[in-house]
Amino acid sequence: MKLIHRNDMHSIKAQDLKGAKVFYRIDGNVDIINQKIQNDFRLQAILPTLQLLTNAGAHITVATHIGRPKGIQKELSTAPLKNWFTEHGFPDINLLENLRFNGGERTRDREEALAFARELAHGMDYYINDAWGLLHRNDTSITVLPTLFAPEKRAFGLLVEKELAALESLKNSPKAPYVVILGGGKVETKLPVIERLIKKQNNGKPAVSTIIILPALSFTFMRAMGLQTGASLVDEALIPHAGLIMELAQKNGVELVFPLDYTYIFDQNKIGTCDAIGIPKNGKGMAVGPRSLELFESYLKNAQTIFFNGAMGNQDQPETMKPLDALLYMISQSNSYSVVGGGNSVAEVQNCGFMDKIDYCSTGGGSTLMYISDGPMPGLDAML
Ligand code: 3PG
Repeated sequence: MKLIHRNDMHSIKAQDLKGAKVFYRIDGNVDIINQKIQNDFRLQAILPTLQLLTNAGAHITVATHIGRPKGIQKELSTAPLKNWFTEHGFPDINLLENLRFNGGERTRDREEALAFARELAHGMDYYINDAWGLLHRNDTSITVLPTLFAPEKRAFGLLVEKELAALESLKNSPKAPYVVILGGGKVETKLPVIERLIKKQNNGKPAVSTIIILPALSFTFMRAMGLQTGASLVDEALIPHAGLIMELAQKNGVELVFPLDYTYIFDQNKIGTCDAIGIPKNGKGMAVGPRSLELFESYLKNAQTIFFNGAMGNQDQPETMKPLDALLYMISQSNSYSVVGGGNSVAEVQNCGFMDKIDYCSTGGGSTLMYISDGPMPGLDAML
């Protein structure tokens, strides 16, 4: 029984784990409101490894971060996860408090990081990492802690193995046409991803055929085109970068596709639709409009590979969620190899009941984007 995927790494045998103390790093970064876990997709995803470790007779210490706390923040405690694990048949695991409550988890000071890593490693026989959503980060428990274990005493868990296998073709040999759909608000993290995807080659040709840019990301590009965006979300500082990306795409032969129209809100809760070139001054673009969906469908119909990360709309205004649901429906109906990544995107796939119609739903947002665009993955490197 193997716990890893990469051939160049040692595999841990189940028989070695009997009675062993295992440090199990997961990405249990889930939204918690009033002690209630809002969506447990990421927790469900680590159950197979947890089961395997339990069956093997290991003593399991589970560790995760939640959110980005400044010091100790009670609302970001891991306590609700302990109840979740108990309810799901694992009452005996030892669950650590939010790793990011300790400054050592995110410090850039090597000595401080080592001190915290040693504290975490104390008394542990094995280190197992299933925190796929975090492998693009330099957090101490991801990049320093594994180095304190001998190579044969550290491994990835079944979830990381599954993620690597599912994303393999997107990273190394995507079938063309490969359509990437990106949205969401974190413009500063998405622009480098788009740039890398535009530069990515497969057999001497652009690996990605088309990148569809959704709101909120699209508004920064619109401003780079000299268009007005009303009250929509724009990252002013990144407008020049968006302009350079459009030039690069043209030069490399990668098509960037932008919305033709938008669904917007105004006067707090009124909803309208408009052409992309006519967003009213007080209008805040929330999602695309019907003409954009038709345009996107023409690309998705022919796609052989689709990657989607980019929820749009506001859950509190169901009308603004309809374009996203229509887009997810198109993806679910396509004959391509389709992958959706990112918390909000996967949650909406679940809400729509399309989980079994999408080939793979990834637990990673930022990490999956980083991996498929050949960005740095220090959490993978640390385990080699
Ligand atoms: C995520 O939710 O994408 C991961 O848990 C990483 O969280 P971070 O962006 O706060 O590092």
